[in-house]
Amino acid sequence: MKKKIISICMPCILGMVLLGGGCVSFREKMDLIKQGGHYGDSDYAEKNLEEEELITVGFSQIGSESDWRMACTQSVQEAFSAENGFNLIYHDAQQKQENEIKAIREFIDQGVDYIILDPITEKGWDSALKEAKEAGIPVIIFDRDVDVSDENLYTAWIGSDFLLEGRKTCAWLKKYLDQISYEGNLNIVHIQGTEDATAQIGRSEALEEAVKTYKNWNLLDQESGEFTTAKGKEIMEEMLENYGSSIQLVYCENDNMAYGAIEALEEHGIQIGSGLSRGEVMVLSFDATKRGLQLALNGKIAMDTECSPLYGPKLLAMIQALKAGEEIEKRTCVEENQFSIFNQVGSINVDGITYGISNISPELIEERSY
Ligand code: AHR
Repeated sequence: MKKKIISICMPCILGMVLLGGGCVSFREKMDLIKQGGHYGDSDYAEKNLEEEELITVGFSQIGSESDWRMACTQSVQEAFSAENGFNLIYHDAQQKQENEIKAIREFIDQGVDYIILDPITEKGWDSALKEAKEAGIPVIIFDRDVDVSDENLYTAWIGSDFLLEGRKTCAWLKKYLDQISYEGNLNIVHIQGTEDATAQIGRSEALEEAVKTYKNWNLLDQESGEFTTAKGKEIMEEMLENYGSSIQLVYCENDNMAYGAIEALEEHGIQIGSGLSRGEVMVLSFDATKRGLQLALNGKIAMDTECSPLYGPKLLAMIQALKAGEEIEKRTCVEENQFSIFNQVGSINVDGITYGISNISPELIEERSY
């Protein structure tokens, strides 16, 4: 913030020793510092307290629609901790762009040092970003992208190549079908994410171009499940009502919608798996969350293409670099894997680049933090 001087960085353990009680909260530490400049009489305490400026960051988050989103929020909150020298102002837009724009304006009024924005949809950001720029506040866009008239309206973007995620998924499917010598029609239903979100645009475009290329891929229907489990289930139920047993493949644009779709399919007694010739319905998904990978290990998600939510450390490094006066990359794409138990496919090729498919093991799932 411009500019509060406070002291930070006292491990809980030290607070417990000196206060003889449980962990001291950040507010309690601040009060203690104000009273006596340190936590207690110990030399150790005095040595460990450093006067430092907290950097204030306004964080506009889309909402809490998915496991991915919750993990993303947690990752950012952990990285921008008081212990790391930050005062993070978190704002949950509850799936509304107008709330994100309002938050940006509030951050400007509050005089934050930096803004980090995960934009729900691509369009409509020009005015708010212009205002932040005029106020001299650097804005880092992350995860999804913005479509603005001038790229100088924001400082940097870091996120996923959602079109590539979709193309990798479709390339895997094509190779899998070739390997099992599947030549019949493939009837696909498509559960999309939030309309006009970069994650939806890229993943949808990839499927649509594959459907144009492979004449036996037949897109029966596409509908938005808004990236949530409940809506994903609702859309799957509607599709089952409309297309019944002709559905052979469900292309879900995130894991939460896949959880919902799988629930709906199972409630209808439909077998899920990769045995198209046995009448099983294949489910493809994105994110590779812990639960998504568990479903993939059980063969219920045939391919889960990763989308990493762990942006906290990356954004932290970017802001620390800016603070140190260093230049940062204008646009950075994060690297992402693909997970399937049908590993006979081996690697795939998209636009001349070869990508490996990762195996899924209980150990890998155990290690997954989200
Ligand atoms: O923008 C990333 C997407 O949004 C993730 O795939 C999804 O789970 C989230 O809600």
